[in-house]
Amino acid sequence: MVKNSIILGIETSCDETAVAVVKDSKKCPKILSNIVSSQTNIHREFGGVVPELAARSHLEKIDLIAKKALKDSGIQISDIDAVAATAGPGLIVCLSVGLSFGKSIATFLKKPFIAINHLEGHALSPKLNNSISYPYLLLLMSGGHTQFLLVKELGKYERLGTTIDDAIGEAFDKVGKIIGVGFPGGPKIEEYAKLGNKNRYNLPRPIINKGGCNLSFAGLKTAVLRVSEKLSTEQDKYDLAASFQKTIEEILFIKTKLAFNEFEKKEKKKKRSFVIAGGVASNKSIRKMFKILCDSHNFNLICPPPNLCTDNAAMIAMAGLERFKKKKFNKLDYPARPRWQLDEKAKFMKGSGLIL
Ligand code: KG4
Ligand code: ZN
Repeated sequence: MVKNSIILGIETSCDETAVAVVKDSKKCPKILSNIVSSQTNIHREFGGVVPELAARSHLEKIDLIAKKALKDSGIQISDIDAVAATAGPGLIVCLSVGLSFGKSIATFLKKPFIAINHLEGHALSPKLNNSISYPYLLLLMSGGHTQFLLVKELGKYERLGTTIDDAIGEAFDKVGKIIGVGFPGGPKIEEYAKLGNKNRYNLPRPIINKGGCNLSFAGLKTAVLRVSEKLSTEQDKYDLAASFQKTIEEILFIKTKLAFNEFEKKEKKKKRSFVIAGGVASNKSIRKMFKILCDSHNFNLICPPPNLCTDNAAMIAMAGLERFKKKKFNKLDYPARPRWQLDEKAKFMKGSGLIL
């Protein structure tokens, strides 16, 4: 009998130290363990991630997290067939920790080493509990990225749209800071929004009628800042959070419809899938909105569970498994790549990159 491959995944690109073990199986791969240690407590007082503190914490914890991931998986270290570690994009001091750790384990085990693009991890995360086939449309919504991607096959991605300024998660975090809910803002804004009147404040939807399915959030955040100067009660804060959440949903609804059109022009596929990934994809209200949109446009909505939307190492092991099966291995001198686009041909869009 052929043994199902087992991949060790390592993720330290930002403020999560994560190690996971994923095993291949006939239907869809199985997560044997998935340990994530978040550093939000360390960075909360600074209102954002401090790279040196993040790297130090990765260094302190990576051994323990890896030990726990191995123990929970029930396998022996010698059962591992390959080691996959995030090589970028991300904070270079943070990436270096997981990358070096992964290379050391691969060397010790005499097994292949695979360098993973963190965004590819997010893009393939739905494969962990769905038997989804290529091509599909992906909306990646994280703290550093907001992109519509046509996922053609492993390693082949076409960016259909991106943010021209702030990432959507960054907008949630900045609004969280303005309202005073602490860091990270996203989950708290979602909670506050449930208690508020979403029609109280009229907020802008930048580039809503231009720029195709490219997005913009900077003007929305500035508008929230202006309104926040007049806040006096807790209810005002709830109302502002609700109005912000509603505006975000409207922007995503309209821009995703445009992305559906783009997808349909390029891919004549009967069974069309739309995947949302990244931390913001764990927002329940956004998920609900996408369900309605997909049902009316004949797209099958795939949302990974919240723990696979936010940063984790299972998705890195998943991308590693696909690459392992195609023998796409990397040398041990593979560098950390702080900037690394999935669609290498995509134009830089920030600032004046988008001509409207
Ligand atoms: O994918 P992720 O864990 O890390 C990055 O690669 O950036 O995403 C983190 C981002 C943060 O900006 C956080 O505020 C946001 O995802 N986020 C949320 C929610 N949970 C996390 N945003 C909105 N609603 C949520 N429930
Ligand atoms: Zn991420």
